[in-house]
Amino acid sequence: MLSVQPYAEMAEKPDTGILFVCEDMPLYKEENKALLCEKIRNLPEFAAKAEKIYFVSMPEEMPLPRVIMVGLGKKEELDAEKFRRAAAAAVKAAMEAKEKCPAVFLPDAKETLQSETTVKAILEGLVLANYRFDSYKKESELRVLEKIIILAEKTAQSGIEKLAAGVEAVCTATHLARTWVSTPSNDKRPEALCDMFEKAAASEGLETRRMGKKELEKLGFGAMLAVAQGSDAGPCLLTLHYHPEKTADKTVALVGKGVTFDSGGLDLKPPAGMEGMKMDMAGAAAVVATSIALARTRPSFRFIAAIPIVENMPSATAYRPGDVFRAYNGKSIEVMNTDAEGRLILADTLAWLADVEKPDLMLDVATLTGACMVALGDEIAGGFTEDSMLAHALARAGEETFERCWPMPLPKDYKKLLKSELADLRNVSTTRNGGAITAALFLKEFTGETRWAHIDIAGPAYLSKASACCPAGGSGFGVRLLHHLLTDLEKNGNL
Ligand code: BES
Ligand code: MN
Ligand code: ZN
Repeated sequence: MLSVQPYAEMAEKPDTGILFVCEDMPLYKEENKALLCEKIRNLPEFAAKAEKIYFVSMPEEMPLPRVIMVGLGKKEELDAEKFRRAAAAAVKAAMEAKEKCPAVFLPDAKETLQSETTVKAILEGLVLANYRFDSYKKESELRVLEKIIILAEKTAQSGIEKLAAGVEAVCTATHLARTWVSTPSNDKRPEALCDMFEKAAASEGLETRRMGKKELEKLGFGAMLAVAQGSDAGPCLLTLHYHPEKTADKTVALVGKGVTFDSGGLDLKPPAGMEGMKMDMAGAAAVVATSIALARTRPSFRFIAAIPIVENMPSATAYRPGDVFRAYNGKSIEVMNTDAEGRLILADTLAWLADVEKPDLMLDVATLTGACMVALGDEIAGGFTEDSMLAHALARAGEETFERCWPMPLPKDYKKLLKSELADLRNVSTTRNGGAITAALFLKEFTGETRWAHIDIAGPAYLSKASACCPAGGSGFGVRLLHHLLTDLEKNGNL
């Protein structure tokens, strides 16, 4: 999708140029561009406000028929996200104008931000925004751009090419996650979703294995099987395996919640918004897509991703409030609410991975609690870990990708809220307060001694309204966050 080319040797003819304009700072040294930006910036209807678009038609003799000017706002408010959003706004404008192949003039502004950070953010905005999910419509309203040309100086070309390849690997994986999340639940029953994940992962060179009901029974996944028993669709556990060329000394384990539809079970959810529960496999989607992004960028650690997939339904065979089940690690769980199903399928999976793989780091991603949305809103995920170094790295990865992840507590004394009269644990707290925390504390009971973090993405996993970089629907949240976090930990020797 991205093609880096020196201006003089442009291989194909772009239909538009894209120029970035800051309210109070010139971004281009070259005279023609500088003059044009200066002129347009002063138009009151544009004024280079952040994400504002202005189309300029070019005279006949110019190499480009038109230019899309995109605003960045004020110099002192500039950050990577401003560039990301501006680039995304320009792509959206190009799509609306029915362009096929625009060319982007990267700003020369080294003064504003470290130039690599700026360039990377721009490339991310371009790729993230160049996405639609319209396979359920007879006619698509907007067509994605076939190609986006990045015009670079010859000397910078190879550096930008490397950056572009990395960005494209990760951001097109984000597209995959979005599509899976937006797909309606009738087209992603557990087997079908498992097929989609498996196909996508295998085509990127990942080794895949899957287990069905029988194998899960043998392994002792009592909690996951309890959730699955209400649906006529059986459960699946998909695992993805990656090995680096050189033998790895570190192993990372990833887990993603894959509930293809969460009706609540016998503790049925109210009708308002139940249709939104098709997104309850967004953690699984993020983990599979991250695995694909990693397979493309080839890190030096080994990883295994485990994705438990079920449908949570009420029926004559459904698990009941009050039932007790035994999880993989032998702990018994009294089900006090069948709508707290995510933690049950994660419990077995986490305990199994910790036991069998003994990973150096284990991360799970889940649309786990409405309470996390109450705490942090629609755009910020909750990050739970007892490892302060990891908490810090996670928060920083959140800032740098703008897939923000706020550090949340795991207070030991709150464990009393999960005490059951009958079993080792109950699956929901005795109080509604602090629901995101008690859910995380429940998971912790299944992680053994493994270094672990839990990421609750209930808020940002699905957009009810389009954002700058993403149409309404699945957001693909978590893919850039996890990829950035793991690459960072690896680079800094912190795995
Ligand atoms: N999948 C939901 C959490 C959720 C809610 C995700 C809204 C995205 C948007 C989860 O399975 C759930 O139902 N959690 C319950 C837990 C409660 C029963 C303790 C909740 O948050 O209400
Ligand atoms: Mn639920
Ligand atoms: Zn759920």
